Amino acid sequence: MKIIDNIKELKEEISKLNGTIGLVPTMGALHNGHKSLIEKAVEENDNVVVSVFVNPIQFGAGEDLDKYPRQLAEDAKLCQDAGVKIVFAPKVSEMYSDNKDNLTLICPPYDAVNKLCGKSRPGHFDGVCSVVAKLFNLTKAKKAYFGQKDAQQLFIIEKMVKDLNFDIDIIPCPIVREDDGLALSSRNKYLTEKERKIALSISKALLNTKKLFNSGINDIKNLTDTCLEIMSELDVEYIEFVDRNSFEFKQEEADNDTLVLIAARTPETHTRLIDNIVLCK
Ligand code: PAJ
Repeated sequence: MKIIDNIKELKEEISKLNGTIGLVPTMGALHNGHKSLIEKAVEENDNVVVSVFVNPIQFGAGEDLDKYPRQLAEDAKLCQDAGVKIVFAPKVSEMYSDNKDNLTLICPPYDAVNKLCGKSRPGHFDGVCSVVAKLFNLTKAKKAYFGQKDAQQLFIIEKMVKDLNFDIDIIPCPIVREDDGLALSSRNKYLTEKERKIALSISKALLNTKKLFNSGINDIKNLTDTCLEIMSELDVEYIEFVDRNSFEFKQEEADNDTLVLIAARTPETHTRLIDNIVLCK
C-alpha cells in the first residue's frame, strides 16, 4: 500500500493500476463505520483508494476544523490490513492552491441544502461536493462508497453525480452502530463518559420511532414528541421526517418510505451528532 500526499504522485500511481478502482472518501479518524465501506470496496474492486483529508471548505466558522481528530498512522494501518492499495492524504495547500473565496465550487440546489444539516451549516454541502468531485476526477474511480449515516450527504452526492453526468456509481452502505446502538462517528471521541450515555438517546429515539411505527402509530407530531421526551438531555437541532427518495418533508403521516433524521448537541462538549433510520415495515 502506498501513502501519497501529492496530486502528481497520485496521478502517476493511478495510471499504473490495472483493473477497476473503488474510492472511499473520508476525513480520517477511521472507525468500524469507515472500515465497513473500505471492506465493501475491497470486495467489489481490483484497487481501492481511501482518501484521508479533513476538508476545510466544508467546515463553517466556529466549527471543529482545528480539533477534528487527525491520526494518519493508525488510519493507514487499518487501510493496509483491509487490503487498500492507495491512501491519499494530501495537505490543504495541495488540494486548494487558492483561498476559499477564489475557488470554483459545486453548489447543490437550494432545496437540497436549505434543510436538515445544510440549514445550520451554510456552505457545508458546497464544500463536500467540491472535494468529492475533485477526488472523483483524481482517482478515476468507477465506484465510490458513502455511508447512510450521512443520509443528506449521500442524497446530495447522488444528485450531483446524476446532474453532472459523473461516470461513477455511488454505493450506499448501511449505518454501523456500537452494540448498544450508538452510531459510530469520528466525533464520538469528543464525548465525556456522561455524554456518551446521553448520546445513546438519539439511537434509542430512532429505534423507538420505528417500533411505534410498526405497531401502527404514524402521526408525525406524536412520534416527534416521543423522540423529544427520550432526548430530553440533548439540545435537539432537528427531528425531521422526509421521503427517503426525494428528501421532501413528510407533513402529517409517516409511511414505509419515510426516513427519520435527527441532529442534536450534547450538553457539555456541545458535540453535534447525527443519526437516522428508515421506517420500512
Ligand atoms: P467522514 O465523516 O470521515 O465519513 C466518511 C464516510 O464514512 C461517509 O460516507 C460517512 O457516511 C461514512 N460513515 C461515517 N460513519 C459511519 C457509520 N457509523 N456507518 C456507516 N458509514 C459511516 O463524510 C465525510 O467524511 C466527508 O464529508 C467526505 C465525504 C469525506 C468529504 O469530505
